[in-house]
Amino acid sequence: MEDFLSEGKIEGKVYDKRTLMAIFKLMKRGIIKTLESTVKEGKESVVVAAKNKDGEWLALKIYRVEHCDFKSMWKYLISDYRFERVRNDRWHVVTNWARREFKNMQIALEAGVSAPRPIAVYENILAMSFIGENGVPAPTLAQLEKEELDWKGIYEQIKEEIFKLTKAGIIHSDLSAFNILYYDKAYIIDFSQGVTNRHPLAVSFLERDVKNINEFFKKKNVEVDENLFEKLRGLIE
Ligand SMILES: Nc1ncnc2c1ncn2[C@@H]1O[C@H](COP(=O)(O)OP(=O)(O)OP(=O)(O)O)[C@@H](O)[C@H]1O
Ligand SMILES: [Mg+2]
Repeated sequence: MEDFLSEGKIEGKVYDKRTLMAIFKLMKRGIIKTLESTVKEGKESVVVAAKNKDGEWLALKIYRVEHCDFKSMWKYLISDYRFERVRNDRWHVVTNWARREFKNMQIALEAGVSAPRPIAVYENILAMSFIGENGVPAPTLAQLEKEELDWKGIYEQIKEEIFKLTKAGIIHSDLSAFNILYYDKAYIIDFSQGVTNRHPLAVSFLERDVKNINEFFKKKNVEVDENLFEKLRGLIE
């Protein structure tokens, strides 16, 4: 059990007991073998690069339950009919938050959206395929802002992805250049705020997503589709 932290690269990172138990459970289930390195440490979650028994890379999004603003999460969750029964209890809220992200990713996968493949969700841990190489995550579009890329082509792809996701009934609700990784093509990540199109604010979330994307690509001198929101809205009403 001691050597699961490969080469000590996660050394010094202190996980609470319940999170460690969840990591062990995922190991026992054969989903992960080793934790390799910390990819990104945010306020509410830590993304860790891990490997499975076949040596394939995985990304684990581990919610830091004690640091999460679970009261806001709870309010947001219960407004989604799929989670309206969630109790206002810290662990329960955060584990359901992770489950919702996983569910949204499953729907995205079925709709053929370019995104990491969801592998498992257990307690506060979401395991998914790794976008990048050897534990180094692909850059976000925001990080690539100054690069010479085929921005028009990337915009066209992202438009397609939003169409697929909207047709599948999911509004990402946090779509921006910070939540799109680029690795030969764009991959949408961070589905934690995603709601179904039945959510009372679905249309305004969609409008905000489209605005964020269009504004980013306008800065890249791409001729954006000013009717994109209208076209997408037609799909959900
Ligand atoms: N599947 C993945 N493969 C590689 N890297 C990933 C993957 N998922 C996330 N990352 C890395 O972790 C970073 C943060 O991920 P994400 O946007 O999901 O979380 P967050 O913004 O911290 O969380 P949240 O917005 O849910 O609080 C990404 O920018 C990327 O560097
Ligand atoms: Mg994010």
